[in-house]
Amino acid sequence: MFEDEPNLADLDFEASVARGLTLRPRRFASKWLYDDRGAALFEDIVASDTYYVGRAELEILEAHAHEIGERIGDGGALVELGSGASWKVRTLLDAMPDLARYVPVEISEAQLIEAAAAIRSDYPALEVLPVAADYTRDFDLPAGVKDGPVLGSFLGTTLCNFLPANSEIFLQRMHGLLGENSWFLAGVDLDKDPARLVEAYNDPGGPLWDFNLNILQRMNRELGTTLDQADFRHEATWNAEHRRIEAAIYPMRDLSVTVAGQGFDLPAGEPIILEYSHKYSLEAFAALAARAGWRSVTAWTDRDQLASIHLLTNRSAA
Ligand SMILES: C[S@@+](CC[C@H](N)C(=O)[O-])C[C@H]1O[C@@H](n2cnc3c(N)ncnc32)[C@H](O)[C@@H]1O
Repeated sequence: MFEDEPNLADLDFEASVARGLTLRPRRFASKWLYDDRGAALFEDIVASDTYYVGRAELEILEAHAHEIGERIGDGGALVELGSGASWKVRTLLDAMPDLARYVPVEISEAQLIEAAAAIRSDYPALEVLPVAADYTRDFDLPAGVKDGPVLGSFLGTTLCNFLPANSEIFLQRMHGLLGENSWFLAGVDLDKDPARLVEAYNDPGGPLWDFNLNILQRMNRELGTTLDQADFRHEATWNAEHRRIEAAIYPMRDLSVTVAGQGFDLPAGEPIILEYSHKYSLEAFAALAARAGWRSVTAWTDRDQLASIHLLTNRSAA
């Protein structure tokens, strides 16, 4: 789907890892971080003190969920991309008692099934239609979802993991997925003091560390490699030119690995980049969304101006 060169997200895990190891710097697609264990570890990150995104987004949703519900109206569908544990969305569901359908879309199937069951039991009047899919590829929504108003949501500042050009492509694709009369809530991290960012994305020995190093366990399990997590460390650094955090793992001694029958060197101290997290001003993101055909209705920030949620629409009048 994406235009970045090379397109690691479109290959299968083995081919993607092998291709990523030929790049300099070495790089893996961030979606591989979310196997079932990675998805569970992400929930520990959200609960940690330094990682502010979950708390900031929740604060924004608590303050504005009613306004969002009033704009969308009754009988609609909420399509949540990368829904994870579906916990933040409860603030929206509580404020939208006449919503007809909730459609969580997740790559981590075990987490999806568990979260959908919990929502079903807590919101019995809501039709819950989970979709196990990779949102970087084409997929369809269940029948009937687009019969009423549709609100897409993409929280956790997950959109910021894409290169800006790819965020634009992703938002363009959302017109086709959600329909031409829809709304979209995008969680977007704000550009701010790099020291604050570096602190939030580094937690030696903590959940972010485990989450990023988990890719090694996944490689060992699924690709037959024999990498030892103790030979690596995790560090996130600020790239001022591209306004982004770059999360990477670093071998602490010279290593080698065989993937897809090819041998690769992993020299000590050379990063393998796992995830980018781009930071935007409110204006810069609204302009990006406009280039993708979405009109900015409003954008909110938390009290400390750490993160933002943009409400976008492609309706002709809203
Ligand atoms: C940063 S977390 C955000 C989770 C949740 N939305 C939140 O706000 O806390 C990203 C979520 O997207 C899911 N995900 C990552 N890549 C995906 C992909 N390509 N397709 C579908 N889901 C994906 C992950 O499993 C994870 O649950």
